[in-house]
Amino acid sequence: MRVGTVALVGAGPGDPGLITVRGLDLLRRADVVVYDRLVHPRLLDEAPRARRVFAGKAAGRHALPQERITALLVTHARRGRRVVRLKGGDPFVFGRGGEEALALARAGVPFEVVPGVTAAVAVPAYAGIPLTHRGVAASFAVVTGQEEACKREASVDWARLARAADTLVVLMGVGALPRIARELIAHGRPPATPVALVRWGTTDLQETLVGRLDDIAGRAARARLEPPVVAVIGDVVALRPHLQWFPEQTLHASIGAVR
Ligand SMILES: C[S@@+](CC[C@H](N)C(=O)[O-])C[C@H]1O[C@@H](n2cnc3c(N)ncnc32)[C@H](O)[C@@H]1O
Repeated sequence: MRVGTVALVGAGPGDPGLITVRGLDLLRRADVVVYDRLVHPRLLDEAPRARRVFAGKAAGRHALPQERITALLVTHARRGRRVVRLKGGDPFVFGRGGEEALALARAGVPFEVVPGVTAAVAVPAYAGIPLTHRGVAASFAVVTGQEEACKREASVDWARLARAADTLVVLMGVGALPRIARELIAHGRPPATPVALVRWGTTDLQETLVGRLDDIAGRAARARLEPPVVAVIGDVVALRPHLQWFPEQTLHASIGAVR
């Protein structure tokens, strides 16, 4: 029997319209779709005949351990199936896509990687925040806020990062906000630096909480903000009142502009 293939496909950050043409094409032809928690259900409708396997991870809990996921991909491919591994955002941005690709390579299973629109860029865009802006920010860095949970990834050097990029985008950072804010201020970021926390960005649940580096952790705690959240730290956040274009939820009383 001919061995099948695995495509690691980026589903985009939430809005199902943000998957790539290549990703959608592969999804429509898939025999098996192994998908994550943040993948929009409407995308699964594009593969009505495919076997669907939920591999999603809810905060701290794993629906399937990572080893089981990779074993599943290898097994289905070896049975000659076209497997789509549908991952939120981009597969190679904090998505463990690299680990899955390595496992496929080691098993001799042909694979391809279809990049996706990462939440790191798309979520700020839907909140009206450009990551770079002439005269305001000439660089940005994307960081994980969940160092403890990603033991295999290099830990974040907050001291170096505090001044290394104009805009910082933090994924998986809600729980660690107090520490992140403290570290950044301690290493030279002004306490008044604007910060936006965008939850469920690009979806009809999108909501944004805005504050300053020295009060954002308290605001987030009072609003009981839960993941998934992208944090944007930097002066570009001040452009949001002029550039906000996407309709948002207003669930939290404390949502507001920087004062
Ligand atoms: C495990 S990482 C995966 C990132 C993904 N591979 C990407 O490129 O967007 C999950 C984190 O991405 C962020 N995230 C993903 N989708 C999001 C969304 N729609 N709104 C806000 N944050 C999101 C959150 O920080 C969440 O905790």
